[in-house]
Amino acid sequence: MTEFDSNVLGPDSALPSSLVEAARAAVRVEVFTGAGMSADSGLDTFRDAQTGLWSKVDPQALASLDSWTRDPDPMWAWYLWRATLARRAAPNAGHEAIARWGAADSGTDVHVTTQNIDDLHERGGSEEVAHLHGSLFDFRCTICEKPAAVPEFPEEPVERLAPPACSLCGNPVRPGVVWFGEALPVKDWERAEEAMRGADLVVIVGTSGVVTPAANLPLIALERGVPILEISPDDTGLTSVSTWSWRTTAAKGLPTLVSAAAD
Ligand code: APR
Repeated sequence: MTEFDSNVLGPDSALPSSLVEAARAAVRVEVFTGAGMSADSGLDTFRDAQTGLWSKVDPQALASLDSWTRDPDPMWAWYLWRATLARRAAPNAGHEAIARWGAADSGTDVHVTTQNIDDLHERGGSEEVAHLHGSLFDFRCTICEKPAAVPEFPEEPVERLAPPACSLCGNPVRPGVVWFGEALPVKDWERAEEAMRGADLVVIVGTSGVVTPAANLPLIALERGVPILEISPDDTGLTSVSTWSWRTTAAKGLPTLVSAAAD
């Protein structure tokens, strides 16, 4: 799709009445987010040129079980540094708007399914969050999967750090994130599917929509004829399935949408 396609809304577009009505009528909203959701909190996305995390590292070298098995130290250092950055970041106006929308007295149930491994949705006030790709703040043994304590996070980035040994079997403790080729957490996946099946409005925020199976989730809502709003400054793999694709950012678009829904 290009900027000239009918479903694309410019950054300063007035919201179409069809979108405002859908947001006001929605009682079960599913918000599906990616790295762009945390970009306004200062955290790198993966695929944005220049700034994206992957433009600085080789994903295969830092996000696969093979690399971990071969040499865990660079990966351990990288994930702990990302945890430090995530801790230093603050939820942005987009995270807070989502939490406001789903607040107990709002009359609207809002569920979040995120591909992000930071905890900014929770710190922004969202309570119903499914993490499809795990969390920077969960740790477990690589082999026996015994949960492990949250380690100290480094104050500065370092090239290598040796992961601690599991207290039960002595194997290296790993980050509780999903690496390329690994299965997604079943409970979070099932909650995400259920949310897409029950939603009467889907809002996709800040994902390039290129990583499956996560990127296939909005298709469940599409098949049910549920309206889908995408918020992303750029065209994505999900623009073509979106009813509206709004070229704005999470921190600008979500507060505008949520206040329109509340009017
Ligand atoms: N607000 C909203 N969206 C934004 C913003 C912003 N301020 N800044 C950038 N974006 C958009 C980009 O246009 C892009 O479409 O966010 C998207 C980020 O895409 P990716 O970097 O590919 O991140 P994501 O889609 O979450 O990646 C999916 O890939 O590497 C794996 O496991 C990793 O969970 C990740 C998955």
